[in-house]
Amino acid sequence: MNAFMPSRSVAVLLTLAAAPVAPGQILGSAHDFTSAGWAQSQSCLPCHTSHNAAAIEINGYSAGRLWNHALPAQSQVYTTYEGDLTRDEALDSYSLLCMGCHDGTVALDAFGDGIGTQFISGSALVGTDLTAQHPVGASAVWPNPEPSYLNPRSTWENQSFGGDRMGRLRLMVVQGVEQSVVSCATCHEPHNRGGNDYLLRIDNTNSQMCLTCHSK
Ligand code: HEC
Ligand code: HEC
Ligand code: HEC
Ligand code: HEC
Repeated sequence: MNAFMPSRSVAVLLTLAAAPVAPGQILGSAHDFTSAGWAQSQSCLPCHTSHNAAAIEINGYSAGRLWNHALPAQSQVYTTYEGDLTRDEALDSYSLLCMGCHDGTVALDAFGDGIGTQFISGSALVGTDLTAQHPVGASAVWPNPEPSYLNPRSTWENQSFGGDRMGRLRLMVVQGVEQSVVSCATCHEPHNRGGNDYLLRIDNTNSQMCLTCHSK
């Protein structure tokens, strides 16, 4: 055992601890996989690659820029508020990217050419029963015309952190009609740009994120 290494590690840790927490970065967030055993010490690679990315298209909608992670099988069934639906019936294209890790059917280390052996666990495991959480995809259609129990859609799209395209509602064909739907990435920003708890786009203290869409 090299006596130099431990003290150097401690010094590095102290430096990190003393540094002010920069809002909105992936390092140090729940999506910082650099110290996870399954991630090859990489922070972007489990989700993105710079080369040979698969083009992903779900029912005619492309998603997943330079995506590197395996997705749930097309035959995968999800229990939703609308009943049991297959993957492409249930999920918009962004929720699908999240479910490649969060539904627990695909290994975390199934990225690049790997098949993987490590699965998500604990509270981060969302599973395939989506009725225990806020609806997404086919269950979360933004009604048109807009109902009074929702604030105008522009309220969300103006306030959502950064106003980036990932935070906007997603398009998806639901029962033959193209609709705007809420996805996992509508509420969460996977790179932690907002710097909020749970990778949320908007701080949800006093339910203020919920109230950006719901008028109560
Ligand atoms: C947990 C998964 C995940 C990790 C880790 C991740 N990203 Fe992403 N990233 C996404 C998703 C999802 C999108 C949206 C893809 C799309 O728009 O089709 C995205 C989009 C992007 C985009 C496109 C522009 C944008 O923001 O919409 C860039 C650039 C990017 N990521 C860079 C990075 C870099 C650099 C890292 C590592 C430091 C990283 N990402 C780590 C999930 C991830
Ligand atoms: C490469 C696999 C992977 C992908 C893809 C992925 N996640 Fe995660 N995510 C994880 C893991 C692993 C954790 C748990 C980390 C830990 O052990 O705390 C996590 C944790 C989270 C958390 C909990 C944050 C907290 O502070 O407790 C949220 C929210 C989340 N992910 C949302 C998303 C969303 C939304 C997407 C899609 C845009 C996504 N994830 C895509 C692997 C992934
Ligand atoms: C309407 C907004 C919204 C949508 C849509 C949404 N979430 Fe969340 N999510 C939250 C909030 C708020 C929390 C904070 C904890 C709580 O309230 O349960 C959270 C918590 C989480 C956590 C952490 C759970 C824990 O207890 O540690 C994970 C993981 C997660 N979400 C993943 C997802 C995934 C994957 C999707 C898509 C299938 C999704 N979320 C869709 C708002 C949302
Ligand atoms: C981006 C906008 C948005 C945000 C943020 C949001 N919601 Fe929703 N929510 C919706 C939409 C759209 C629906 C589906 C409306 C419909 O079916 O008429 C919905 C549906 C619901 C429902 C009804 C579910 C059912 O059984 O059909 C509940 C309850 C709910 N949201 C609670 C919340 C809570 C709690 C939060 C904060 C964690 C939240 N929402 C954040 C847009 C949002």
